[in-house]
Amino acid sequence: MADGSRHPRWSLQDIPFDCVRKSAIVHEEDWFYLLAGASFVETLSDLYANNLAGYYAGNEAACQWLQNQWEHEEVQHGRALRAYVLTVWPDFDWDTAYQRFVDAYAPLCQTEQLGPTPALEMAARCVVETGTASFYTMIQHASPEPILRQLAAHIRADEVHHYKYFFRFFREYQASEAVSRWRVLRSLWQRVTEADMEDSFLAIRCAYELRNPGQEFTAAEFRAFRKRMAVWIRRHYPFEMAVKMLIKPIALPPTLQRMLLPILTHGARRAIT
Ligand SMILES: [Fe+2]
Ligand SMILES: [Fe+2]
Repeated sequence: MADGSRHPRWSLQDIPFDCVRKSAIVHEEDWFYLLAGASFVETLSDLYANNLAGYYAGNEAACQWLQNQWEHEEVQHGRALRAYVLTVWPDFDWDTAYQRFVDAYAPLCQTEQLGPTPALEMAARCVVETGTASFYTMIQHASPEPILRQLAAHIRADEVHHYKYFFRFFREYQASEAVSRWRVLRSLWQRVTEADMEDSFLAIRCAYELRNPGQEFTAAEFRAFRKRMAVWIRRHYPFEMAVKMLIKPIALPPTLQRMLLPILTHGARRAIT
């Protein structure tokens, strides 16, 4: 499974935080919440990695990769985003807000939610990495600030790399499980629709409530936030890339995939925006 690439491929020292053009972003509230929220979710990856490693106990290659590479890279995403947020908004009490996020979210993150089979869980991880790879592609394109673009490009490359690993593990399990294409499709679809943004909602709520003491971050506020995000999504979200990554585990015949891709891309664009 080794691909010969250097690990980790980048570190916080590669990001020139002291060159951040703060004036380009400091007054953009939505950027603050988006980046603070992402920094919480990424930092909590040690918990997800443990849950996954527990589920895949017995698969030494998977456990080793999850705990020695994947977890470190995800946590590094969190640390880098935290450093960026604190460079631009130094008054934000990141540690307290993060602790609130951990207290609220960790109990919802249980091993029993993984599965139903090892192959289908790997396919579900491909959905998650598709989501993050697309998210950071959007951030990279939408960012009004150059260092954030650079940081997003590094994170995006890692997420695409993660996808490739999960996909390879999926194929290995699939060789023995032989889950039907229909069942893989159903499971992928379920993951896409189940992603009800619980972690994003809690993460942004914790950042918001700490920054605005006494004010509650309601579901309505979150809806309004997502509506504003829809403008960025329409303009910057890599729909075709996301759809290609999403349907890859179904292994459609190439001609059918070529025919379906524009239709699905169009459908995804309409569904999301
Ligand atoms: Fe990440
Ligand atoms: Fe990832």
